[in-house]
Parts: sequence; C-alpha cells; structure tokens
Amino acid sequence: MTRIAHLSDFHLLEPAIRARRGQAWLRVNYLSLKRALDYEQRRARASAALAEARRAGFEQLVLTGDLTEDGALPQYEVLAEVLVESGIDPARITLVPGNHDAYGLGWDEALDGPLAPWAATSRHGAVTRLRGCSVVAVSTAVVQSVVRSSGRVEAGALDIVDKVARESRRRPVVLAQHHPPFAVAHQWVHGLVNHREVTGLLHAHRTVSVLHGHTHQRRERALELGGPARIFSTGAVVTDALPLRMYAAADGAVHSLATGA
Ligand SMILES: [Fe+2]
Ligand SMILES: [Fe+2]
Repeated sequence: MTRIAHLSDFHLLEPAIRARRGQAWLRVNYLSLKRALDYEQRRARASAALAEARRAGFEQLVLTGDLTEDGALPQYEVLAEVLVESGIDPARITLVPGNHDAYGLGWDEALDGPLAPWAATSRHGAVTRLRGCSVVAVSTAVVQSVVRSSGRVEAGALDIVDKVARESRRRPVVLAQHHPPFAVAHQWVHGLVNHREVTGLLHAHRTVSVLHGHTHQRRERALELGGPARIFSTGAVVTDALPLRMYAAADGAVHSLATGA
C-alpha cells in the first residue's frame, strides 16, 4: 500500500501585499474574492497544513494548484520558503499550477526559478514512480484574463499517462491536476475545456485516478453509477479547517482514507 497526501489551493500572498497600488491592488482584491488579504495568516495556514501532512505520513504529497493568489514572483518565493521549512524531501512533493498561478509568472519560469528544487517531480508530464503507484503531474494552466478561471490539459501529458498506465499494468496511476475532469457550472468560465480527453483516459484504464483542486470542496465521484470513486478533490488550505486528504494506492486503485488513518 502506498500512502498519498493531498493538499490544494494555498492562495499564498507576498509579504508586501499591502504596498500594492493601482491595477495590481485591484487585481489581487478581485482574485481574492472575500478572503482577507492577510499574508501572515495564509502563510501560517500553508505551514500548518504541510505539518499535518508530515504527521500523517506519506510517500508522495500532491499540491493541486492555486498555490499563489496571482502568480507573482514573491508569492512563489513564499511557497518555496514554506516548502523548505516543512522539512519534506522535494522529491516527495508534486506541485501543479492552478488558474491563479497562471495569472502571473509562467509555470516553467517558476520551476526554473524559486521552485527549482521541485521541478523534477512537478514539470508538466513528470512521472514519479513509487513502490505501489505512479504519480503524473498534469498542468491545466492557460494564459487568460482574470475574469476567467478555465483550464486546458496541454498536449502530451495524456499520452504520457496512457503509456505509464499500459506499462504499470495493475499498479495505480494518479493524475495530479488543478481543474476537475468534468463539466462544472459556467463551464466556459471555470471549467477544464478538454475534460472529455481526461475522462476518456479514465474509461480506457481502470487503474487511473485523478486528484484535483479548484472547487475548494472535498468530494469524490465515480465514472459510472455504482462504480468506485475515481476522481477526488479536497478543500482549500486558504479557508478549510481540515484541508488534508489521504489516500491509499493498493489493489489496482486509489482509495480514500479517513484523515489521520
Ligand atoms: Fe482556488
Ligand atoms: Fe482554481
């Protein structure tokens, strides 16, 4: 059995957030919705969630996007600091970008900069092979206006997942991505444009599951009525009291564990 920990939606701010002016200030206010623009509180929540994951114990921790509020370089630097402070081996962490991260620095630029220690596990299509399963980092980030929060799986990653699933036979394959692989309310604004390509893969390989963020809700869903849960999401670190979710990869599938189990 391989234990996987899942956290999402940190929405980190930079220390000098209150010094923003003009468009930059209006933009972060708009993107932050009604969440307080409190740098310290958000950083503390991220650190507490990482400490909780460490206590729970895992072989891989996946962070499914919206790691920053608007992708500013100093926000990525804060993310790097809290990850280093957590004491978790970078090879044991998979990061993927969310729509909020893509409003700023490009993901590759972030991985070449402050997030370099996590690049090997977090680059689009990166495969982390564990004892009992494989984790694939899938970027759904697209450059778009802040009034949209949609996503698209970039070319190439799903071919990698397909290949890994064929090679892995009965070993589970976990896709870490930000957007849910199904249509959502106001799909054109908020949804994953090519979600059917992901569900096509899930139908083709019973061993493939998806861990996602974006919805800020802890949910699970099956592909077909009465079938096992294959798509899992967790609450947002920025707002949720218990944002950590734990899974076991075993017997050709991913199963949700009670947190603390
Ligand atoms: Fe979010
Ligand atoms: Fe999001």
